[in-house]
Amino acid sequence: MGGGIIGLSTAWRLSQRGLRVAAVDSRIMAGEASMAAAGMLAPGGEAHGDAPWARHTVEARAIYPDFVSELKGASGLEIDFRECGAIDIASNDEVWAELTARRAAQEPLGIQVREIGETEGRELVPLLRPGSFRALYYPDDAIVDPCQVNAALVETLKRAGVALLMHEPVSAIDPDGGGYAIRVDGASGSQNLLRAGSVVLAAGAWSNEIALPERVASRLPAPRRTMPVRGHLVERDGTPRALLPIARENHLYVFQRNRGTLLTGSNEERVGFDRTPNPAVVDEILGRTDRLLPGLFAPRTENSAWVGFRPGIEGEGPELRRLPEERIWLAYGHYRNGILLAPHTAAFLAGEIAG
Ligand code: GLY
Repeated sequence: MGGGIIGLSTAWRLSQRGLRVAAVDSRIMAGEASMAAAGMLAPGGEAHGDAPWARHTVEARAIYPDFVSELKGASGLEIDFRECGAIDIASNDEVWAELTARRAAQEPLGIQVREIGETEGRELVPLLRPGSFRALYYPDDAIVDPCQVNAALVETLKRAGVALLMHEPVSAIDPDGGGYAIRVDGASGSQNLLRAGSVVLAAGAWSNEIALPERVASRLPAPRRTMPVRGHLVERDGTPRALLPIARENHLYVFQRNRGTLLTGSNEERVGFDRTPNPAVVDEILGRTDRLLPGLFAPRTENSAWVGFRPGIEGEGPELRRLPEERIWLAYGHYRNGILLAPHTAAFLAGEIAG
């Protein structure tokens, strides 16, 4: 349930193990957070402590090159994947204290990081604003074009004979013999049923809208609640190789794809599923980008901005587990790291379900 990058990657791995698989979505495949995401593969920027999910970001980053190359081979499509590193800038003591605390917390995870001086910082990112700074360099942080990953997954699944069921809003999963009946509400008020032996609930920020079998309610722990955490991204065309590593400052990140496209973002808002970008937030992101990298996103050039709904979650880390005594797996709440964690989550689920 859910045709985002988590559902699609999992469907791929399950089909490789010989299972008959369908990916079901209320809209189109990869039409929400998976398409809106920047594609940061950056444990250095995201992991803040020694938790299982943070370890998984490091493991996921390690398997990403193989994931991309296998997917390119299986789909015949290109995927822009850049092992470009990231530089984190601190222009004052407070930000530097945050960066050094984060670095200490990352050490047990094996994340590679070193302090760099201003000369090296400016060699890596010549566009950095004048003025002194301190910086950390994360050589292993990377980026991928998530739209290309999603397109390659869809193509691969089609080739593998996986059913891609779109515009099928699932409302409930009911017990049905030894398996499940999946209730799909039609536009005309009609209800269709799909049948499955095993179910993966991977509907991102919409996962709690699908009712689970009533008997699940009496078994603890209860599935954690997910909620949309909206973020804005701004994009413009640029000359390739203007910006090599990811540049970060105070939760702002800026990077460039191989073809030249520049991206900057992002913010976090808990405003439900409001799809209208906020011009004030876009201006703030552009202002911060211009202070970090003057001229890169020059004012009055053609920018495009959009919002995405990260699958936020109560507590830390994704809800990734089998429901007791059921063949239902929860796989949502990947929050800021769904693109990065997808191959890792998919391998885990395929092992559990087909193993
Ligand atoms: N992983 C970056 C973001 O969620 O904004």
